[in-house]
Amino acid sequence: MEIIRIPRIMRETSRRLLVKGRTVGFVPTMGSLHQGHMFLFKTAREENDIVVASIFVNPIQFGPGEDFDNYPRDLETDVKKLEAAGVDILFAPEAPSMYPEGFSTSVSVKGLSDRLCGAFRPGHFDGVATVVCKLFSLVLPTRSYFGQKDYQQSQIIRRMIRDLDLGIECIVCSTVRESDGLAMSSRNRYLSQTERHAAAVIFQSLQAAAAMIRKGAGPSDVSAHVRTQIESEPLVTEVQYAGVYDPDTLEARTVAARASLVAAAVKIGNTRLIDNIIVELKDK
Ligand code: PAJ
Repeated sequence: MEIIRIPRIMRETSRRLLVKGRTVGFVPTMGSLHQGHMFLFKTAREENDIVVASIFVNPIQFGPGEDFDNYPRDLETDVKKLEAAGVDILFAPEAPSMYPEGFSTSVSVKGLSDRLCGAFRPGHFDGVATVVCKLFSLVLPTRSYFGQKDYQQSQIIRRMIRDLDLGIECIVCSTVRESDGLAMSSRNRYLSQTERHAAAVIFQSLQAAAAMIRKGAGPSDVSAHVRTQIESEPLVTEVQYAGVYDPDTLEARTVAARASLVAAAVKIGNTRLIDNIIVELKDK
């Protein structure tokens, strides 16, 4: 696997691949790789001539008081995992080369970025959209791969690609889970053993919601149930949002519809965890 640390070299390499007519699958990450990331690499590997992964803990998507400094970083272990996944190129730039002095441009996907997680992490999705736009312009991918675990992020990237005519396919891969249903996340390692056990309540509440929706319960009853079930876990310190949303607009659902996003953002101790599922009704 080739490791590239300098944006200019990444761009030159991408241009060469483009001239040769190679399809490029791109998986942007912040490292600390787990099975969720591995699934994205595997899917990209199956669908493209060349697979590029990036590892960059993007400072501009972390707010004040968030975990930028403590975010787990382990490049050596990650490199081994990327090699095992058959990734061809790792792009791992340093922050000053991505954001040199005077950097002052921001990509902002309005509306979608303000809801759900955006309401609790102001500026977060502008930071994500900006870095992903920059990475796209350096990697020049044919296809890009994102995880459903960060559903809002994937919707924002899709909208950005469409609005800016970036011409990149955006593939959203299903969420990889631990055996008790907890969505895999680099942040799960912050959890103590008891917190880790308690965290299973999030997916349990989403599954209970899916069962209620399938039985015909209305969105407000389902939302109330999801919140109550999560709050019943004593180690939950905050429920930022929990309920049923429109998968396209991310607005709270008021009437039943064919497809619903059931999503929650929860703090267990100091660790913020998110999860979601899409529930589709065949007869709506
Ligand atoms: P990171 O949290 O490292 O996630 C990288 C990709 O892996 C994202 O598309 C995310 O949705 C996906 N992913 C994470 N956990 C997953 C799981 N359990 N199952 C399936 N996919 C999963 O998301 C980011 O980094 C950053 O915001 C980034 C897009 C790289 C921009 O900085």
